[in-house]
Amino acid sequence: MNSSASIVKTILADRHPHPRIEKGVAFAPANIALCKYWGKRDTVLNLPVTNSLSLSMGQYGATTEIACINQPLDQISLNGVLLLDNNLPFVKRIRSFLDCLRMTDNRHAQSTPITTDTRFSVKTQMNLPVGAGLASSSCGFAALVKALDVLFGWQLPLKALSILARLGSGSACRSLWTGFVEWEKGERSDGMDSYGVALPEEWPGLKMGLWILDPNPKPLSSREAMLRTVGTSPFYSAWSSLVEGDLKALKSAIALKDFEQLGATLEANACSLHGLMMSARPPILYSTDRTLKAIHQIREARKQGLSIYFTQDAGPNLKLFFLDSSQAKIEEYFPDIHIISPWEV
Ligand code: PMV
Repeated sequence: MNSSASIVKTILADRHPHPRIEKGVAFAPANIALCKYWGKRDTVLNLPVTNSLSLSMGQYGATTEIACINQPLDQISLNGVLLLDNNLPFVKRIRSFLDCLRMTDNRHAQSTPITTDTRFSVKTQMNLPVGAGLASSSCGFAALVKALDVLFGWQLPLKALSILARLGSGSACRSLWTGFVEWEKGERSDGMDSYGVALPEEWPGLKMGLWILDPNPKPLSSREAMLRTVGTSPFYSAWSSLVEGDLKALKSAIALKDFEQLGATLEANACSLHGLMMSARPPILYSTDRTLKAIHQIREARKQGLSIYFTQDAGPNLKLFFLDSSQAKIEEYFPDIHIISPWEV
């Protein structure tokens, strides 16, 4: 059976590490799925049932600084606060990822030995709320693997970093690039063909708006929600073919810069996902009354001629999509949103 540790070992096997520097620092943008990843064919390696497609969030994301330390435990901090509770999901997930690295135990390597005793200091700064369905896990693990690559001088190709990031959190494998990224689901049981691929198209006139309706951590992780949906929804069997059609429509909209097609498809994909979740037993409902009110406001604005669409992940917050030509009007209608330029990094 493939374990995350054996995949890490395979990826690092042919590396000729360069002398370790004191610390590695890297930034990775968060990404928002236009066509969602929902459901795993392998829950250990985070291998998805379908492809998915995302857009990066410009300067919104995570900056991670990592160093080796002489301490009995890893020291993990988030936004300047040292996290001492080992049961926090953020701490648990980073630590188990670092455990995979420790299991590669290459104590005989000349310049960058990692042993089962190696401990790390991981300092992450995120400029978006954590655990609120705002893609914080996507940028967190992507920044972590990039920072490790700098620390150890592995010089891994982005594709390999994408696979490593995926082991921490599925959607993280799309956060190694700016712009549109498709996550190829792959076929192999070891997941070595399941990684992000950047689309060549750029669309600088396309803007995102982050509408934070509730910044608090969500009550149910996307990991658990996914498992429950796949295991209990009578409609999950329809998801793969729905995604296939949506991906086709989104990619052709991107190639033709057809904003109406892009917006209508990404919004319908998100609504399908939330419908699917509500069909799970017991039903999963991430929307709050504020979310529903906001959705009605968006639909009303559209009726009045404003070209604007939304998507929603595993949380109550919304992300809006519009073109820069309508930005002034959007700011008037929706004064609370943070505007993001995906290509400004
Ligand atoms: O990577 P995870 O386990 O945080 O799951 C992400 C799930 C969604 O954000 C809802 C969809 C996606 O494709 O990003």
